[in-house]
Amino acid sequence: DFDAFDISEELGFILEEPLTHLPDYYRVWLDLANNLTHLIESRKLRDVVHKMPILSPHHLSNHRELRLAHLALGFISMGYVWQEGQHEPAKILPKALAWPYWLISRRIGLPPILTYADSVLANWKLKDPTRDMEIGNMDLIFSFPGGETCRGFFMVSLLVEMAASSGITGSLEVMHAVKISDLIGIQKGLIKVTQSLKKMKETFQLMHNHVEANTFHGTLRIFVSGWRDNPMLPRGLLYEGVSNEPVLLSGGSAAQSSAIQCFDALLCIQHEGETGAFLTRMRDYMPPAHRQLIETLSVCPSLRDFITTCSDSDLCQAYNSCVSALVDLRSYHLNTVAKYVTVPGNRARAMGCPLRGAGTALNTTGTGGSNLMVFLKTVRNTTQKALILER
Ligand code: HEM
Ligand code: ALA
Repeated sequence: DFDAFDISEELGFILEEPLTHLPDYYRVWLDLANNLTHLIESRKLRDVVHKMPILSPHHLSNHRELRLAHLALGFISMGYVWQEGQHEPAKILPKALAWPYWLISRRIGLPPILTYADSVLANWKLKDPTRDMEIGNMDLIFSFPGGETCRGFFMVSLLVEMAASSGITGSLEVMHAVKISDLIGIQKGLIKVTQSLKKMKETFQLMHNHVEANTFHGTLRIFVSGWRDNPMLPRGLLYEGVSNEPVLLSGGSAAQSSAIQCFDALLCIQHEGETGAFLTRMRDYMPPAHRQLIETLSVCPSLRDFITTCSDSDLCQAYNSCVSALVDLRSYHLNTVAKYVTVPGNRARAMGCPLRGAGTALNTTGTGGSNLMVFLKTVRNTTQKALILER
């Protein structure tokens, strides 16, 4: 199972030991990506990109090389598009970026834009490889402007994802236990998922120590914004040498994390209407094997029906605790979004738009393009409705 869905028991959906180097032929890409923060801040990135040679992607030979190349081109492309802030986004991605990026994306089944699978799951390294995976011993491979806020945002997301790994294992255990009607197995698996969700929420709180709200909102956020449902680039982005029409693609968002969608699928929490459509569309931004796990869980015999039918009160309680932990995580997330998006957004509006940065264009729209507060509350409330009311 683990291999088929490209997951690891310890790290879940996180890419294990991402590469940090590519064959020497690709030196230009990595030099640029490694200097990105400086090139953006001095506003030289676009000029440098205009002088980039067109490299063939055919010397990349395995999944991890392709993931690093996708990550590097993603960071460079976001920097290129947003270097001048909200008023002057680039409308054309030059061929030296667009063409290899397009082909690499096709080979790994990700879209040609920076995704959560890039910026979080494949963007980490250990400072001291003999020591543990904890925040003090970890670093990003590539960064945007925003200093510790940028590092903290991606790194805490990674730690939350790590806390989800036992929940993914637990989900697989529940899935198998349902197939053979093993009540104890189901209960044990559910408890594992619940504990994982609690650990995720606890880890999420680290955001407050590492991410500063005004820097997040005013500096970092624009660089993870995309070109679909984005008022700053309403028509999308033209990939030069690849397509004659601009392409619409959503920006990066943890809505592209496969973990929570797996838990929804397991617990039979079905998001409908626009909200459901948005979440389903976000699966196109996940690595195909991860997307497959969500789909496998969704077509399994319904856990919720099984539990309501067998009306075993321990089992019912285990299911409800799990749903409650997911509701709690989503409520906590909502508060965090208020602190990092709504509050600084209102402040920026009151002070008038700054010249650079995201300004106020995305005050009510997430970087993924959702109508954020309405969307997030709908998702949370639908989760709550899955609770089984005992008679
Ligand atoms: C969705 C903001 C951290 C999980 C969203 C959305 C926003 C947002 C605005 C709406 C979708 C969109 O992008 O358009 C934030 C902010 C964060 C943060 C400001 C931190 C400062 C995290 C973390 C997780 C996470 C660490 C990991 C569990 C999700 C999920 C969704 C989502 C799963 C989809 C909605 C759902 O399933 O409940 N986030 N997020 N977010 N975020 Fe976050
Ligand atoms: N999705 C997060 C936002 O909208 C990053 O700010």
